[in-house]
Amino acid sequence: MGIKRLSAETIKKIAAGEVIECPTDIVKELVENAIDAKPSRIFIDIRGGFQRLEGSIRVVDDGVGIAGEDFNNLFERHSTSKIVGLDDLLGLNTLGFRGEALASIGAVCRVELASRIDRSEMGNRVVCDNGKKVEFEPCAMPEGTIVNVKDIFKHLPARLKFLKTDRVELNKITHLITHIALFYNSLSFELVINGARSFYSPSSEGEPLVRIADLFGYEIADAMTEVIHRDGDVRVEGFISAPDITRGNSRNMYIAVNGRPVNDREIIYAILNAYKGLLPDRRYPTAVVNVIVPTDMYDVNVHPRKSEVRFRDVRRVTGIVYKGISRALSSAIKFRSAVLGASSISSPSSKSSTFRKSETALSREDLTLKSGESHIDVNGDSLREYKYVGYIGKKYVIYSGRDDLYIVDQHATAERLLFNQLVSVYESGSAKTQVLLIPKPIYLSPEREQTLSFIRADLERLGYDFDEFGDKFILLRGIPSLLPRHEEVLLLEDILDGLDIDRIKERGIYCVLAEISCHKSLRSDRRLSPEEADKFFNDLLVLPDDQRRCPHGRRLMMVISEEEMDRYFGRR
Ligand SMILES: Nc1ncnc2c1ncn2[C@@H]1O[C@H](COP(=O)(O)OP(=O)(O)OP(=O)(O)O)[C@@H](O)[C@H]1O
Ligand SMILES: [Mg+2]
Repeated sequence: MGIKRLSAETIKKIAAGEVIECPTDIVKELVENAIDAKPSRIFIDIRGGFQRLEGSIRVVDDGVGIAGEDFNNLFERHSTSKIVGLDDLLGLNTLGFRGEALASIGAVCRVELASRIDRSEMGNRVVCDNGKKVEFEPCAMPEGTIVNVKDIFKHLPARLKFLKTDRVELNKITHLITHIALFYNSLSFELVINGARSFYSPSSEGEPLVRIADLFGYEIADAMTEVIHRDGDVRVEGFISAPDITRGNSRNMYIAVNGRPVNDREIIYAILNAYKGLLPDRRYPTAVVNVIVPTDMYDVNVHPRKSEVRFRDVRRVTGIVYKGISRALSSAIKFRSAVLGASSISSPSSKSSTFRKSETALSREDLTLKSGESHIDVNGDSLREYKYVGYIGKKYVIYSGRDDLYIVDQHATAERLLFNQLVSVYESGSAKTQVLLIPKPIYLSPEREQTLSFIRADLERLGYDFDEFGDKFILLRGIPSLLPRHEEVLLLEDILDGLDIDRIKERGIYCVLAEISCHKSLRSDRRLSPEEADKFFNDLLVLPDDQRRCPHGRRLMMVISEEEMDRYFGRR
């Protein structure tokens, strides 16, 4: 057989086979494209049945979209908007750069892509099947991009035969999205598998632990210690679990390099090394670790699926990771806060319950206060076991117990207590109103008006009192007695501006209550008097374990036990 040049189609399929090996790789490419489009949310909808050619993958984003004129180049190999030349790889701040992914997916599946940019009234829709564009038409749609992939690997039968079972594949997809979501806190992610929501994690910008809690549960989030370490131009950041929370495999160790989720055995190994001697045999920690290095210190272009990077000086990088993790671990061991739930003050009735998710994940059942159910014996005797000590800075109130030291976040706790009061008056319908001497007009933009019409009855049930006032205004006549008379207009305006109707529809009144209780205008920097501090702590102690979070998921208290102090001072 002589040497012959392969046909263009064969070349395309062979190349495609390198970029996408399995359905999970398709999901990865589509979600990475979505992220590069700078969206605020990404929705991923997966249907199984891959081996029977029944599977499908749909990824929707509200990012910048693709302009009509760029549709010509879609599904063409080596076509990208992300780099122009090799030099751009150095300063790369997108996940994609090769211009291969869509062409590869289009070569072996049927892909429908619709997209609209902000400037354009209409979007466009194209279908690429077996490497050919078969349909193209304008379409009406919101800004962003929708990609629908079907007939997965239909046009690469050899691959089709080797597809893993749905269970394996869907598991891989969930793992992948978890990995990505952990490093893109500012985006909201929703993953639906076979019609059921696998997870929904709203944006948790600035609160990485909330994202971790959304994905792994609060028990794990509570056991996490922050890693912040710097050595010259290399930084290691993230969260790692305390040694007493372990897993049977290393799948919960998620790594990113400059925010790009990667699988990096060397970094994982460095982390495990730092845990040496602390974990039982064949047990693994949970870790979410981002290694930040100058872009000229590594190459992103080394793996066909871009899931690995190569460092110029891998020993230096892993050495720094090792050190960062070791340091974080030693302080974690010193201060491993039994942060509630595991501490001596956890309430007997709710030992088994886990901490609640952030406000957005709250449901009615979660928050209904079970009045009448006593959580702790708060008689005078038990109270005397705790003593108010004072403040650290402006935020933290310190109490000493018989065997523990308690550090309480005043704001977060005040927010939780107010939230519970609001829930209670809302549910019992017993709200009282304080009438404003001078009613205040509030300007209603169309969005505000819509939001208000949606929650007005709920606000009134809380004690708000409104009156109609012309076309574009509403008159605020009274506010809930529970709320302080302070910036009441600002509070209401912020609530109307900040709430998303979809979220209210989904989460109900509780996200409105959370929004109110956490509003900045209600935050007092005033120090509590010793008597107030006593009552405050008391109120906190009667909260069941699952309410010892502020409505947005932040912790209320840290506990350091005598045992931990002993360990710290080398007495154990
Ligand atoms: N969800 C999306 N939103 C906006 N533009 C998109 C989206 N998906 C794809 N594109 C556009 O299509 C181009 C081609 O996408 P493709 O994934 O094939 O290549 P890439 O992302 O540039 O590089 P790579 O092959 O490394 O992923 C992108 O460069 C981008 O301009
Ligand atoms: Mg891409």
